[in-house]
Amino acid sequence: MVVGDHVTLAGGTPAVIRPIEAGDKARLAKAFSLLSDETRNRRFLAPKPRLTPRELRYFTEVDGCDHVALVAVHAEQPKWILAVGRFVRDPEHPDTAEFAIVVGDAYQRRGLGRALSERLVAEARERGIRRFTAWMQSDNVAVQRLIRSISEHLTYVPQGGGARQVIVDLAA
Ligand SMILES: CC(C)(COP(=O)(O)OP(=O)(O)OC[C@H]1O[C@@H](n2cnc3c(N)ncnc32)[C@H](O)[C@@H]1OP(=O)(O)O)[C@@H](O)C(=O)NCCC(=O)NCCS
Repeated sequence: MVVGDHVTLAGGTPAVIRPIEAGDKARLAKAFSLLSDETRNRRFLAPKPRLTPRELRYFTEVDGCDHVALVAVHAEQPKWILAVGRFVRDPEHPDTAEFAIVVGDAYQRRGLGRALSERLVAEARERGIRRFTAWMQSDNVAVQRLIRSISEHLTYVPQGGGARQVIVDLAA
């Protein structure tokens, strides 16, 4: 039995959303290895063949206050990480945090991105965060629709190179 928030994806897959743990490194590396090149590109805005040991430490050893990360795991196969989302507080603007999310290709378009984002927004508000920023490719319709479902108060800032940043007002 996995402890966390239970959600059922469209199509019936049962999942549990829980905080990431230091012990998730191998599971995260495995999940990353299963992502398509396109999904990795959309998450990191650059080709990203693998996560380095240092990145695995950074992504899994979070303090739960300035860096909060949640995973969605399969409820019946808890070693399978289906999605990861996080926010990292901006040290110069402590009411602002950078948001990033990725859902495994096989689990996209089934409501998991939204479920994970809603939980992240709740966690952020509890920690005094009033604004999310996120980087994305300008043609990333999926994340733009996802973010619009978090808040209608959005500002897009073109960044060149086919990228844009969005500023999401969580307080409105
Ligand atoms: C963006 C992403 C996290 C969305 O996760 P998801 O689980 O597929 O999203 P959901 O099923 O919860 O759907 C959320 C919204 O996005 C829309 N959406 C999802 N995938 C879509 C696609 N490929 N094309 C168009 N809309 C899409 C859904 O229709 C829904 O919008 P609606 O409520 O207006 O209909 C996922 O596509 C992903 O991991 N992409 C690669 C990584 C990435 O782009 N990260 C963002 C940069 S930080």
